[in-house]
Amino acid sequence: MSKTAKLEIDNNIYEFPIIEGTEKELGIDIKTLRGVTGGVTTIDPGYKNTGSCESAITFLDGEKGILRYRGYSIEELAEKADFLEVAYLLIFGELPTAIQLAKFDKDIKEESHVDEDMKKILDGFPKSAHPMGVLSSLTSALIAFNPGSVDVDSEEEMYNAIVKILAKFPVLAAWTMRKRKSLPLDYGDNSLGYVENLHKMMFARPNKAYEANKLINDALDKLLILHADHEQNCSTSTVRIVGSSHAGLFASLSAGISALWGPLHGGANQAVIEMLEAIKADGGDTAKYIEKAKDKNDPFRLMGFGHRVYKNFDPRAKIIKQSAEEILGDMGVEDPVLDIAKGLAKVALEDEYFVKRKLYPNVDFYSGIIYRALGIPTEMFTVMFALGRLPGWIAQWREMRLRKEPIGRPRQIYTGENYRDFVKVENR
Ligand code: ACO
Repeated sequence: MSKTAKLEIDNNIYEFPIIEGTEKELGIDIKTLRGVTGGVTTIDPGYKNTGSCESAITFLDGEKGILRYRGYSIEELAEKADFLEVAYLLIFGELPTAIQLAKFDKDIKEESHVDEDMKKILDGFPKSAHPMGVLSSLTSALIAFNPGSVDVDSEEEMYNAIVKILAKFPVLAAWTMRKRKSLPLDYGDNSLGYVENLHKMMFARPNKAYEANKLINDALDKLLILHADHEQNCSTSTVRIVGSSHAGLFASLSAGISALWGPLHGGANQAVIEMLEAIKADGGDTAKYIEKAKDKNDPFRLMGFGHRVYKNFDPRAKIIKQSAEEILGDMGVEDPVLDIAKGLAKVALEDEYFVKRKLYPNVDFYSGIIYRALGIPTEMFTVMFALGRLPGWIAQWREMRLRKEPIGRPRQIYTGENYRDFVKVENR
């Protein structure tokens, strides 16, 4: 028998169905709540207890530290798949066959140019502009060069839009970095793989032949896979909600990039390195910063610690921590910041404040250390996150549109003034 939940308000009892997910998660379906109760709503700032949709893309269990894309464990995907395969899996639901993957790759390459006039837009930004702001604007500007909305009922149109953005986004991301470094804009090389090409577009020098490096390529590939989706987080929910107004894919993604930029979300990877650098400059006293993080009168938070959903450990952080050590070892990089990070994590993981609140290092705690070792500038870290998250955003947007979800429009409880008469300015 299906489960139900009962709610009592003023001696009236209302019954609501309980939906059960494929992993046995339960959700009270309150779609009819306002109708049957005559306008009673729910209040849940930050949506800590609210499911905004049903989704078949990503499963995570914060208590057990499980993360799966379309049923496949993040550990296995990070080890065995490449980023383009994972992108296909997330967006279309199944791992691609060799033929499907080759077509996907070819179709993306076919679209990997960006209109030359886009350079004029990039030119308008000061060199000091943060790459995330520039990336969001350029993604939005792409709409002007690719007008015409996507008919989501047409599989072909949907596919073409997806392939277009997967192709052009790395070009734009690389350009934001090259602009800051005063390097000529590069279009990459279609004979390279997706991730290698991204690296080339970021780092190729005009007067030097580009040499691909397997170690760097594998590290980047893994990082992008680990960031590829994370169900209904802040930026993904933004993409879905913007898309729910039937704004186009590129517009929805541009909004998602802005949401990701914040230091409580994707911007944390930049904030972590800045924090570790500051601790190093201050003599490396990790205990002092642990105390600051615990002090409620001090706004300082331990960046890269804590997660809305993971209350045990972040499985991505576990993989990345090991990768950071391997990559730094293989590259022969000795980074004092990694030692500070390890020291900080050790103290925090034993400290009652962090243990009690289940605050563990998250994915951003170690990713910046790898990006640094790969020579990626700090202000580009969140752009790297966006590159990884792109397939997840696309998959979630596509799912939302195909399921014909209604426009996202939360309710509120009004707590302002009751009705009052207008007073003319001379009488106030
Ligand atoms: N340092 C110190 N204390 C913390 C931290 C932290 N990093 N994170 C949470 N806390 C404390 C809070 O002060 C609060 O304490 P209280 O119960 O005594 O008031 C308690 O832990 C719960 O914190 P909330 O902010 O309510 O937890 P929430 O789920 O809303 O926030 C978040 C999660 C935003 C990630 C938070 O832990 C944080 O700000 N972390 C630092 C930023 C960060 O690393 N963000 C990246 C997230 S991962 C990602 O986006 C890919």
